[in-house]
Amino acid sequence: MVYCRIATLPQGDYMQYTKERDIQLTIESESQPTKQSSVFYNPAMQRNRDISVSCLSSASQDSNEYWEVGDPLAGTGIRGLRYLTEVASVSTAHLNDSNPRAVENIRMNCRYNAISQQQAHVSQQDANATMHQHRNEWNYVDIDPFGSPRPYLDAAATVLRKSSAIGVTATDLAVVCGAYPQTCRRRYAATPLKTQFCHEIGLRIYLASAFMSCAHRDKCLIPRLCWYEQHYIRLFGTVQQSAKQTNKHLSCIGYLSYCNRCLYRRLEKTTVATCPHCDSALQHAGPLWIGSFADPAFGNHVLADLEEREYTDAATLIRSVVEEASITQPYYNIHQLAKYAKTNAVKRDQLCEFIQSLGYQCAPTHFSPIGIRTNCHIDQLYDAMQTL
Ligand SMILES: C[S@@+](CC[C@H](N)C(=O)[O-])C[C@H]1O[C@@H](n2cnc3c(N)ncnc32)[C@H](O)[C@@H]1O
Repeated sequence: MVYCRIATLPQGDYMQYTKERDIQLTIESESQPTKQSSVFYNPAMQRNRDISVSCLSSASQDSNEYWEVGDPLAGTGIRGLRYLTEVASVSTAHLNDSNPRAVENIRMNCRYNAISQQQAHVSQQDANATMHQHRNEWNYVDIDPFGSPRPYLDAAATVLRKSSAIGVTATDLAVVCGAYPQTCRRRYAATPLKTQFCHEIGLRIYLASAFMSCAHRDKCLIPRLCWYEQHYIRLFGTVQQSAKQTNKHLSCIGYLSYCNRCLYRRLEKTTVATCPHCDSALQHAGPLWIGSFADPAFGNHVLADLEEREYTDAATLIRSVVEEASITQPYYNIHQLAKYAKTNAVKRDQLCEFIQSLGYQCAPTHFSPIGIRTNCHIDQLYDAMQTL
């Protein structure tokens, strides 16, 4: 994998150019980008940005106004620049970074790509200060920090208009996946759980946290397309100013109950002490989001947009997210199921087809190449494994 650092002019010696889709960027080679890099750019996050372009395009396309978007942790400005050039309804982007070298680089990248000062409003401020300054003004905000998005979520909820959208990248996965339970409680007010499906639990903890930040401002965040890959989790949702809607969706905040003896798992409003399958004591995680993390209609729209743009890798990932979107039950790891059922692991497609033939929903999950999501009962799952 190639990582790059952006250099400032006139240190021309190490400057080189790269292109991400239609955007020209100036970069300087570096073995690993870090917080100390002068300006951060990670080409491995291109797929994240590709999908974000299609999400924004889908969310804004029925709007009867031009969209003003914000990229308050902009780095090179690549996200905002791509939104301006690839999403027809975006008229203005606020590109902000606290690092003066990043800001200089954003200005340079705007010039190279013929983006005018009317289109791109460039600033050097703390991200939260900039979002508080633009209270209720932006149609979309993209939170893409180093590590945890938590320090920026309240201001993000503040900057959004009555009808708007939000994108959030999180990379502190070890925290929400159970490696640092105290940090998770402190940062997200939630208890994590180390399990074979901990990335799904993590995604749901992030969602609940982002939802509550919006809820504090009577804004209702509805997840439209969320996914996990590589080292990050990404949330994309629409936001409506409505205390009534927010109250209604409070029912999507609850807990995970999990039995590490028989692998029973369930998302529910309240915690249950004993496993209904084997009577063992249950473990719990949460509060977390217990509703869907993707909306199939929205996901299909994004998928069609990705296919039209020929963003093939991104389309493959989103096709998988959409396929599993209507099943909310947490996913199972086939190898772990096989171990508990005292049988050999079976092929994922074969297992899915068999469970579907019994009349249940079942789909591969994008979280793991050996994961399935199904609404069938754990008993029937073990029976299926043994039959196959
Ligand atoms: C992960 S990078 C952004 C990457 C960029 N969005 C992209 O897609 O390439 C995070 C950026 O946030 C900036 N940053 C960190 N803390 C900040 C703060 N409190 N306010 C504004 N910018 C900040 C860093 O300088 C860095 O450029």
